[in-house]
Amino acid sequence: MKPSRRLFLKGASALGFAAVTGTQPLFAAQADGFELAKLPYAFDALEPVIDTKTMEIHWGRHHKAYVDNLNKAFAGKVEWLAKPVDQILKEIGEVPAAIKQAVINNGGGHSNHTHFWNMMKAGGSEGPTGNLKEAIVSTFGSVEKLQALMTSNGMTRFGSGWTWLVKDPTGKLSAYSTANQDSPLMVGRTPILGIDVWEHAYYLKYQNKRADYLAAWWKVVNWKRAEELFA
Ligand SMILES: [Fe+2]
Repeated sequence: MKPSRRLFLKGASALGFAAVTGTQPLFAAQADGFELAKLPYAFDALEPVIDTKTMEIHWGRHHKAYVDNLNKAFAGKVEWLAKPVDQILKEIGEVPAAIKQAVINNGGGHSNHTHFWNMMKAGGSEGPTGNLKEAIVSTFGSVEKLQALMTSNGMTRFGSGWTWLVKDPTGKLSAYSTANQDSPLMVGRTPILGIDVWEHAYYLKYQNKRADYLAAWWKVVNWKRAEELFA
């Protein structure tokens, strides 16, 4: 693997990209292209909620395709290749028109999936706690009401997309869904939690029962990561 675009799970703040997401950065920037980082856990770590085969295909084929196609879109454009993908999505209005939709699709796909992998962990987690819990309760009434809203938003997202908990620039939380690979970063929102509701995320195990997948997803949520993103 080339030393660029790796997923920096620890100790990357010194690289100076913390401003991109406001917390521990997931992406490092160099000029030789985007890379598919390794998962932060084994393929079978999220069993039985998310099965091993789904993880292998989702990461190794779907996420890889977004990375490969993002590199194709930016081929020869060194100034763009030097930027973290989250920064590019925040600056989507500056991307050349000829490749803008390709960057929305594949840059969004790369960013969304990288965040998604890190929003989950083996065995799930207790939480949320602290400031995030206070904000969720004051905004939605309770954690359970947030979960119900994110589930509802995911269920009513026709076709493919994501259901999100996001923070706006003033720190206010909201929950909504996006189509396809549209990233909240493109409209100034920071992802706090996001659940992939493309069929490729759940179909092998849950078939057409998206509701069952969404209900089970909370068993692998990484609340600590959400708290970091909200901080
Ligand atoms: Fe996906």
